[in-house]
Amino acid sequence: MLVETGNSSPSHLFTPDLLTGVTCRVAVPVPGLEAFRGRDVISILDFTRSDLESLFEAADSVDKLTSQAPLKGKIVALAFFEPSTRTRLSFESAVKRLGGDTLVVSGEDAISVAKGENLADTVRMLDSYSDAIVIRHRYEGVALYAAEIAESPVVNGGDGRQHHPTQAMLDLYTIRTLKGGVDGLVVGVLGDLRYGRAASSFILGLTRFKPAKVYLISPPPLRVREEVLMQLDKTGLGYEEVEDYRGVLPELDVLYVTRIQRERIPDPGEYERIKGSYRVTLRDLHGRAKPGLKILHPLPRVDEISFDVDNSPYQAYFIQARLGVRVRMALLAGILG
Ligand code: NCD
Repeated sequence: MLVETGNSSPSHLFTPDLLTGVTCRVAVPVPGLEAFRGRDVISILDFTRSDLESLFEAADSVDKLTSQAPLKGKIVALAFFEPSTRTRLSFESAVKRLGGDTLVVSGEDAISVAKGENLADTVRMLDSYSDAIVIRHRYEGVALYAAEIAESPVVNGGDGRQHHPTQAMLDLYTIRTLKGGVDGLVVGVLGDLRYGRAASSFILGLTRFKPAKVYLISPPPLRVREEVLMQLDKTGLGYEEVEDYRGVLPELDVLYVTRIQRERIPDPGEYERIKGSYRVTLRDLHGRAKPGLKILHPLPRVDEISFDVDNSPYQAYFIQARLGVRVRMALLAGILG
């Protein structure tokens, strides 16, 4: 435990030293989050069930963290080379609520990449100006690449179609908050399971728990990728691939819906063929869904959930977005606290 004097940060407790009686300031490690300190966050699979449970417990009591301001004096770079609303803003809100500050980069045009600077140099620059880097990029593997270059911890805010670990953390936390846990639930994941990183990371995250069954629901061209299926097979989680959510709806406790990732589908003709091929409506849900069904969506929504679901008890996507700040606060406090 770090004992300091001369630091007036509210993240430090004032405790009288038992031997000398002199009051000194003692750095408080965020309870239960020791395993997160200084860590990169590249894939949800980097974390064990117990890591995730510790994170969720810390997220439950995040208000205590606010008063301790564990990020006071810290700067977090938010390097979003791809569009983002919720992820960037919720990270920004999380950093500020913890007493820290942000350096925000939005889009490649805003920085020297547009002048031909290579990504490695950009990462080195961000590394020297900040204490942690949250990075989003259209190419798979960029977060891992950045983590190899940077000395500061790197958090993957989404790399191409591959990983979106903090989204999976907040998705699982939302289920735990609304359903009391993930174990024993029947979970449907509907939509673009091929190109959607949120869906892929969520499915991978489910393998850290014991849901009763996972339905992978998608039009055939958007079926889940082989490497994700391999992970499901490896962990022995029971799953089934189906094309229409309505057939399995009565069984579901959770339905995770995603949009078609138009920008990642290589063939625009393919997008035209499959757009609008699924849509969750209140009419379909009435009388067929379990009363306790919760519908999640990482957002943004296009047309895959009709607006009349928003005011129904099934809607959990706005709650999910709100809980995201808590989870990101707990995560950053663990990494940097
Ligand atoms: C997701 C993303 O960017 O992957 N959104 C998010 O982070 N909340 C999902 C999406 O864009 O469809």
